[in-house]
Parts: sequence; structure tokens; C-alpha cells
Amino acid sequence: MRIQAAVLEEFGAPLAVQEVELAEPRGGEVLVRLAACGVCHTDLYTASGADPSGYAPTVLGHEGAGVVERVGPDVASLRPGDHVVTLFSPQCRECQHCLDPRTNLCLAIRGPQNEGHLPDGTTRLSRDGEGIRHFMGCSTFAEYTVMPEIALAKVSPEAPFEHACLFACGLSTGLGAALNTAAVKAGSTCVVFGAGMVGLGAVAGCRLRGAERIVCVDLSPRRLELARGQGATDLLEGGEDAVAAILEMTGGFGADYTFEATGNVAVMRQAVEAARMAWGLCTVAGVAGRGETLDVVPRLLITGRRVAGSSFGGVKGRDQVPQLVDRALAGELDVEPFISHRLRLDEVNRGFELMEAQDGIRSVIEFA
Ligand SMILES: NC(=O)c1ccc[n+]([C@@H]2O[C@H](COP(=O)([O-])OP(=O)(O)OC[C@H]3O[C@@H](n4cnc5c(N)ncnc54)[C@H](O)[C@@H]3O)[C@@H](O)[C@H]2O)c1
Ligand SMILES: [Zn+2]
Ligand SMILES: [Zn+2]
Repeated sequence: MRIQAAVLEEFGAPLAVQEVELAEPRGGEVLVRLAACGVCHTDLYTASGADPSGYAPTVLGHEGAGVVERVGPDVASLRPGDHVVTLFSPQCRECQHCLDPRTNLCLAIRGPQNEGHLPDGTTRLSRDGEGIRHFMGCSTFAEYTVMPEIALAKVSPEAPFEHACLFACGLSTGLGAALNTAAVKAGSTCVVFGAGMVGLGAVAGCRLRGAERIVCVDLSPRRLELARGQGATDLLEGGEDAVAAILEMTGGFGADYTFEATGNVAVMRQAVEAARMAWGLCTVAGVAGRGETLDVVPRLLITGRRVAGSSFGGVKGRDQVPQLVDRALAGELDVEPFISHRLRLDEVNRGFELMEAQDGIRSVIEFA
């Protein structure tokens, strides 16, 4: 079928919205009609050419929500009409990692996905007979996409698509960092560095776990106000003095749990230093630049602090994304404030501009 899609033709150039060919789903694959898709930093990171593993041409986008249009052979868990959220982090439910509760890092399709292929090593996207690669296994800046069944979470049809798509990446990452990776204990003190989609999700996750005090640190007063709406009890302007300020707020000890959601390695270091001696746990969710390292004084670890990394918030996507969406529907989470702009697919480059200007948290593309 012919579809409209936003193609990354050349690194550093605007995406080109155009007609491309999408082939029918093969075994274990599903054709999804997109209804909404968030514009995320990872899309921009790849479009800019900064990502060393990036490739072109490809159809970007990975924060999609939509409706199953058709299923290929051997698809048992989804049928036409189901509402789904796309998962760049799949869940096959069979590999060693999927069977282990300690991780969400499914091993099933890592190789082909990283190369921009579907699990059988080929692509369904093409133009004039020439293949176009899939991005993060999703390619959701498009009217339709073909994805593996194991990379789609079936969610409640009650959820508005523009809300559901936020759970495809940043929001679940932040929520999961607090709910899964840190498993924050009720009554504790938490500090979240960064009040973007991921940090705000972490603030909400700390609240849902019953944290008593939630300090949010950011450079932007407007973003800090949004953190208050998600449950932050204290707001702190970021910068060199942030650790000293946190120690002062916590009787000199630091916080039970800290979260880093900026991608800045200097802030990651602050998050480690702001964690409490004896049992403070620092959860790193931000993605650092190529070659950057995290500098930690080992004494901080000997005296009981721990550091954990969190990919997609430790969320096992097919099991847990539907649960998170249900919690939003039940009124436990207010996701509307995260949507700052609603765009059409042909305005996708405007979404990148808004992100670079730090104008709002998420632009969401809505499909007619
Ligand atoms: N682990 C994962 O699976 C995963 C998934 C999605 C995104 N991420 C990463 O998480 C990070 C955050 O993503 P986002 O979408 O929320 O980004 P964002 O850019 O919207 O938010 C980052 C925030 O950090 C703030 N900040 C910058 N410097 C700071 C400082 N010195 N002190 C305090 N705050 C500071 C910025 O003002 C901004 O509000 C990025 O690195 C992103 O790549 C990770
Ligand atoms: Zn994303
Ligand atoms: Zn798996």
C-alpha cells in the first residue's frame, strides 16, 4: 500500500514527508494504522547525525499509538481493531531475559532491530523498489507501519490515542524508573534531576509509590511548575550548588532515592552525590553523549550508595504498558499537561524546532 511517511533522507536535513510503499505483514507481524505519535529527542538525535549507529534513509518515529488494521500469519495475541502502543523495547515472553523478573531487555530481535530490519532481516518499507529501513523497530512517523507482534502493547480502547502514545517512551521510562528500577519505598525522600518527559514521569512514579518528599531539580522554572503538578513537594533550580542544597534539605545525609533524567554526565554525578550514605540509590535514565563517562568517587559507593541504570524504566512493555495506561484512565496520573503541541505529520520538522527551543514537553502528531 502507498502511505505518507516522514523520511530521514540525509543527516542534518529536515525530514521529507512523502509517499512510500509499505508491504503486507508477514509471519508474526502486524499492520498498524497510527492515530498519534510523540516527537522525541531520540528521533532528533538520529536525524541530526549525532547518533553513531544511525542510518538513512529511514522512517523515524517510535512513540506511536494506533489501531491494528491487519495481522500476518501466526499472530495470536492481536486482532484487527485492537488499540496498541508501539514498543521500541519488545517483550517476546520467551527469551532468558523475558523470563527473568530482573530485566526488561528482551533478546529476541536486538540484532535485526538495530540494523533497521524486521526480525526476518528484511524491510517492509520501500520506494521505487529500494528498501527503506525501519527505525527502532517502529517507524511511526507514518500513516501505517508494520511491526512485530512482540513489539506492540494492547491497551484499553478507552485511552485517548494522544495520551496512550506518551507511554511508548519517555513517560513509561520515568514512571518505571521509580516503580520498577528503584521500587521506591513509601515515606521516602526522592530527588529527580530533570523535568522533561522522563523526569516528570519519575516524579509521578515516586508519588504513586507513596514518597513523602519529592524534590525536582531543573534549570527551567516553567518545567519545575509542571513537576509540582505531578507531585513534587520541593522545587530546586539546578546548577553547581544543587548537591549542597539537597544535603542541606536532608539533614546533611542526602536522599533515599535520586533519579537522573537529563543525559548530562555532570548531573549524573550530582545524582550519585545527592544519594544518602548507607542505602541511597541513584537511578540513571538519561542517555549520555558518545564517549562520555560518569565520574564517581568510589568512597561514595563503599559507604553504601548504589547506582542503577534503567532502560525504558525496566518496563516489560506488553505486560506493563497496558497497566500504566489503566492507571492514567483511573485518574492516578494526569498526562494531559505533557502535551504542549498538536501537529500534523507534515509539520514534523516543527516538532523538532519546538524541542530544540525547549518549548513544551511533547509535541504529538495526530493522524486524520
Ligand atoms: N533510559 C531510557 O530508556 C530513556 C528513554 C527515553 C529518554 N531517555 C533519556 O532521558 C533523558 C531525558 O529525556 P527527556 O525527554 O525528559 O529530555 P528533556 O530534554 O525534555 O528534559 C531534560 C531536562 O533536564 C534539564 N536539565 C538540563 N541540565 C540540567 C541541570 N544541570 N540540572 C537539572 N536539570 C537540568 C532540562 O532543563 C530539561 O528540562 C535524555 O537523556 C533522554 O535521551 C532515556
Ligand atoms: Zn522516545
Ligand atoms: Zn524476550
